[in-house]
Amino acid sequence: MEKSQQSHRWGILGLGKIARKMAADLALVPEAKLQAVASRSAKRAQDFAFEFGAERMYHDYHALCEDPEVDIVYIATPHSFHFEHASLAIEAGKAVLVEKPMGLNAHQAKALIEKARAHGVFLMEGIWTRFIPITEKYLELLKAEIIGPIKRLSADFGFRPAFNPDHRLFNPDLGGGSLLDIGIYPLYLSLLSLGKADTIKVSAKMGPSGVDIRCEVELNYPSGAEAHLLSSLEEETPTEARIIGEKGEIKLHRRFHHSELLSLDINQKVREIKLAYRGLGYVHEIEEVHRCLAAGHQESSKLPLSTSLELAELLDKVQAQFNNS
Ligand SMILES: NC(=O)c1ccc[n+]([C@@H]2O[C@H](COP(=O)([O-])OP(=O)(O)OC[C@H]3O[C@@H](n4cnc5c(N)ncnc54)[C@H](OP(=O)(O)O)[C@@H]3O)[C@@H](O)[C@H]2O)c1
Repeated sequence: MEKSQQSHRWGILGLGKIARKMAADLALVPEAKLQAVASRSAKRAQDFAFEFGAERMYHDYHALCEDPEVDIVYIATPHSFHFEHASLAIEAGKAVLVEKPMGLNAHQAKALIEKARAHGVFLMEGIWTRFIPITEKYLELLKAEIIGPIKRLSADFGFRPAFNPDHRLFNPDLGGGSLLDIGIYPLYLSLLSLGKADTIKVSAKMGPSGVDIRCEVELNYPSGAEAHLLSSLEEETPTEARIIGEKGEIKLHRRFHHSELLSLDINQKVREIKLAYRGLGYVHEIEEVHRCLAAGHQESSKLPLSTSLELAELLDKVQAQFNNS
């Protein structure tokens, strides 16, 4: 596609690990253009812009948000800055894709949603899982009631990063902890599959820097269904999800939050469904943002702001039990 047909001009704010993956996937979407990048470091902005072909670079987040040639700002900073940085972009009238979680708590998520609505701009949380082709297939199977009503859902996400109290994963000032970083994916799957829970039971282990390094959550639903969820920064776990219904079972294979393989087990007959995602998997959420903007929508119907708020409320309820667990 010609450059002139690239109708969505992106800016990336915060040039860490995920920003690199996003920039790589933006390059695969013909309608997307990486217009500008912003870092706290001028050198990092320059190197990143050169590597990924961004037209402009800033070493000031605010200046990127004020650039009239940026349409969409992708917020890729640590959790504790999502509210502040997404606010900057919203107040400048930009469409915003903010990395998960939308804020540090439901209060921030709600305030951000209200701000986006007041400014009439698009806002979406970067839960890429929702747009991965296997997730679409999973939702199609649930809707068709192939496995019947869900009785039990289990999902885990664990890995073992080296402990560093200054790193965003472990630093409480940067919104560290297993729950906000990776536990959000099992929680989101539970919300997507079963809706709101009735009761929540939490068992968390706090690490030396004061953030949760392990978090087990049990959810019970009015239907009698239950969900068992785990996140951990101290062990590698299978990172799979099993959804057991009255008539059969679905397994979302490793890593379930961006899986390319689903098994459907009905009466011990297992059918495997493989669906590759494009690029590193972020292409699908990028295209969703484009679809919404082209249609003049201020939120995605696949990942509505009400879901982001429900997810933030669920995260709050889990964290509220940290001290008693
Ligand atoms: N969707 C996914 O698959 C996925 C995967 C990983 C992470 N994430 C999310 O993406 C966000 C960033 O994660 P990441 O792994 O990319 O983190 P990271 O590598 O640490 O990058 C974060 C960037 O934020 C900027 N920043 C601003 N203030 C900072 C501060 N006080 N301390 C540290 N960094 C600061 C820095 O960029 P500059 O110095 O360039 O300004 C830094 O490089 C998080 O919200 C995380 O949950 C999503």
